[in-house]
Amino acid sequence: MKISIISASHRTNSQSKKIYNVLNNNLLSLQPDLDTFSIDLADVSLPLWSPDKKSGKGVWGETWNSLSDNLKRSDGFILVVPEYGGMATPAAKNIFLLCGNGELSHKPGLIVSVSSGNGGAYPIAELRMSSYKNTHIMWIPENIIIRNVEEFNPGSHGKNIPEWLDDRIEYVLKLLLAYASNMIPLRKVVNRKDFGNGM
Ligand SMILES: Cc1cc2nc3c(=O)[nH]c(=O)nc-3n(C[C@H](O)[C@H](O)[C@H](O)COP(=O)(O)O)c2cc1C
Repeated sequence: MKISIISASHRTNSQSKKIYNVLNNNLLSLQPDLDTFSIDLADVSLPLWSPDKKSGKGVWGETWNSLSDNLKRSDGFILVVPEYGGMATPAAKNIFLLCGNGELSHKPGLIVSVSSGNGGAYPIAELRMSSYKNTHIMWIPENIIIRNVEEFNPGSHGKNIPEWLDDRIEYVLKLLLAYASNMIPLRKVVNRKDFGNGM
């Protein structure tokens, strides 16, 4: 089974990247034979969706095809998304436009939002409302908000990180893995290509 983790920060060496490394390690402790794949959208710098994508030229050739193939082979996703201006980042919104070929279809997704302060709720509300229609991603009913993210350092958290947060993260990762394995057979009976886009 394969889980892809996407960091939707626009900053290289971001807090979101720190979190996705932690989540990647946690997933591998829970399930050592798990295949994981990570994308840092700040590092890959994918352009905004444009009609050029169809041409398959430049970045839309090997770079995108390799990312798309890895996502297609994934059984579940974690999106680590910082709150920028009370919103999900443009990079987060862009990836949903780019994944137009069934990459995320009928697969469970976990939203992990991060904030350096007390924010983090808005990206979750936004993504739950608007990202699933054509991608058919299935956000699981739990999400994680990591507030005061600079203080989140497993083993030596700062005083503003609640002591229950590590337990909750473990619970939610187990839940994601359970959804991911149980949704594999479901995808054989859904995924109609003639209803590729939602209403
Ligand atoms: C452009 C920009 C806008 C931001 N807006 C918010 C905001 O609305 N709410 C919030 O809680 N934090 C906001 N922050 C602070 C981020 O939560 C903080 O920088 C966090 O570390 C960003 O995650 P990153 O390091 O993964 O990019 C903003 C940061 C940036 C760079």
